[in-house]
This record gives sequence, C-alpha cells and structure tokens, in this order.
Amino acid sequence: MITFALPKGRLAEKSAALLAKCGVDTAVLNEDTRKLVLESADGRCGFFLVKPADVPAYVEAGVADLGIVGKDTLIEEGRDLYEMLDLKMGECRLSIAGYPERRDVLTNPHLRVATKYVNTARRIFADREEIEIIPLHGSIELAPVTGLADVIFDVVQTGSTLKANGLVVLEDVYTGITARLVANKVCLKTKAEELLPLIEKLREAVK
Ligand code: PRP
Repeated sequence: MITFALPKGRLAEKSAALLAKCGVDTAVLNEDTRKLVLESADGRCGFFLVKPADVPAYVEAGVADLGIVGKDTLIEEGRDLYEMLDLKMGECRLSIAGYPERRDVLTNPHLRVATKYVNTARRIFADREEIEIIPLHGSIELAPVTGLADVIFDVVQTGSTLKANGLVVLEDVYTGITARLVANKVCLKTKAEELLPLIEKLREAVK
C-alpha cells in the first residue's frame, strides 16, 4: 500500500485530481467525512489528511511514503526528505508586504514582522540587528492594519487579501512557489517498485 500525506485546504482538490489522473483511486477523498485516515476502495492507497504545514513531518518520519506540499512549507520546515517533482499547481510567492505610503519602514532600525514563516523570516532578516518576528497562525494581513506589526512576510497568490486590506507587496523574496511531490528517503528505496511507477506517471501528468 502507498501512503500519502495530503494537504487539507487550498491544494486538496487539485491534489486529488492529479492523483486520479495518474490512476489512483481517490473516490474516498470526495466523501463528506471528518475521518483523517482514508483508504482507497481498491486497498492500494492510504491517505492522511493533514494541515499543509504538517505534511513534511509525516513524510520525513516515514508515516507517509509520499506527500504533496507547497514549496513555501518546505523552505520553512527544512525537513530531511526528497523533493521529487514540481507539480506546477497553486503558484504563489513569498513576499514582504505593507502599506504603500510607508515603504520606508523597511529601513527602520527596529522592524516588526508578522508571519507564519518564522524560520524563513529569521533567515531573510538575519543581517538586521533589531528585528522582531511576530509569529501568527493566520489572517496575517491584520497585523499591520491593527498596528501589531510594521510589515508582514507571507504568501501572496492572487493578491486579493492584500488589496482588500490596503496593503501592497514591498518586496518579493521567493517567486515560483508551487506544490511539490515529496518522498520519504527510506520508503523510496524499500517500496521503489510501488512508488517509482506512480512518480513517473505524475511526472508525465505535470509535463
Ligand atoms: C493565505 C495567506 C494570505 C492569503 C493570500 O492565507 O496567508 O492571507 O492566503 O492569498 P491571496 O493572495 O490569493 O489573497 P489563507 O487563505 O491560507 O488563510 P489564513 O489567513 O487562515 O492563513
């Protein structure tokens, strides 16, 4: 059996559709259920439905053989796993954003940055002496609007959340952030016969 860690949320439907295109029986993923462990009707695949940020942990530990996860999460988590394929879906960027009329805040000696990407933010602002990273779990755009932070470091896809809150991108840090197929390093060897043909199908499907 091949086990997958699949992200709930934005990438969920696209991930299921891509796997189905490659012959994986994903019908169980369409069921309206709160179950987090699902098995395909043909018994060939198991699916763990997890928060996107948790996909690398399941794959690194070998609980799941394969996972689908955004490159933003891989950059942030820095886990020990193989990044097998760019699945070319869910494209976005990781950017610093704030108020257009306050662009000069970036040169402030003391800068407050709200983000879900705490590790990545620490790295990109490593040369700053006084940096305050404010870890948040969601609705990041609210931080500058309410005065909690000067800027945010966050994922931007359509830009509509920034726009709706009067914010703009001040600097793109990473572009070409897309969903990736990741594999557990040991499982890729021990279950090569099962995993490699599917990975090859996925490679063809995203060409
Ligand atoms: C993400 C991100 C932004 C938004 C960007 O949040 O943190 O808020 O999407 O997308 P956009 O450019 O298309 O507007 P998400 O919707 O995942 O929810 P969250 O605020 O709960 O993290």
